Amino acid sequence: MKIGIIGAGKIGATAARRFIDAGYDVALSNSRGPQSLEPLVAELGPRAQAMTVADAARWAEVVLLAVPWRLPDALPPADAVAGKIVIDAMNPYARDGSVIDFGPSTSSEETQKRLPGARLVKAFNTIWFKHLAERARPDLPVADRHAILVAGDDEFACWRRARRLIRGSRPP
Ligand SMILES: NC(=O)c1ccc[n+]([C@@H]2O[C@H](COP(=O)([O-])OP(=O)(O)OC[C@H]3O[C@@H](n4cnc5c(N)ncnc54)[C@H](OP(=O)(O)O)[C@@H]3O)[C@@H](O)[C@H]2O)c1
Repeated sequence: MKIGIIGAGKIGATAARRFIDAGYDVALSNSRGPQSLEPLVAELGPRAQAMTVADAARWAEVVLLAVPWRLPDALPPADAVAGKIVIDAMNPYARDGSVIDFGPSTSSEETQKRLPGARLVKAFNTIWFKHLAERARPDLPVADRHAILVAGDDEFACWRRARRLIRGSRPP
């Protein structure tokens, strides 16, 4: 599976390592452009490449959003992710660190409005990047591993694809 990662900071780069360890190919992107990601890509090895945000989203089968929620310009173009599973790892913090109150809505519902064709799934937002880095234990039985919570209203995206991807088993 090809996974496009939007945002290559703490959570994006850590998820990239985990995905590569599970046998997936990743394309990383950030605000400064592919050249700035060369050292990270060299460290991650041949399954990793650097692209622009739009190219990573177009290349990917599954897209991970790992940018600050308060920067909607960081999102990929809506047409690049239409019909694709988009995993939203973003927590809605304002610049001052407070949590944005959406009233009856949620941060992912607001992101879904910006990416209307995407099959949005919330995941990776409740795990600290260091725990994601250090506590992946593929040697343990699945029931004994740390859980990544997966939430959404698209049954296929949540249960058939995102969960399999997170467990690290290969797609059919
Ligand atoms: N840190 C955690 O443990 C953790 C855990 C769960 C969820 N999250 C969520 O994950 C998201 C990222 O957090 P983080 O801690 O990984 O942040 P971070 O280390 O600051 O990384 C943010 C990334 O977003 C990129 N970015 C910023 N503006 C952009 C733009 N306009 N276009 C493209 N890329 C842009 C940055 O690229 P440049 O460096 O080139 O600007 C950087 O690669 C947040 O929504 C956070 O709530 C974080």
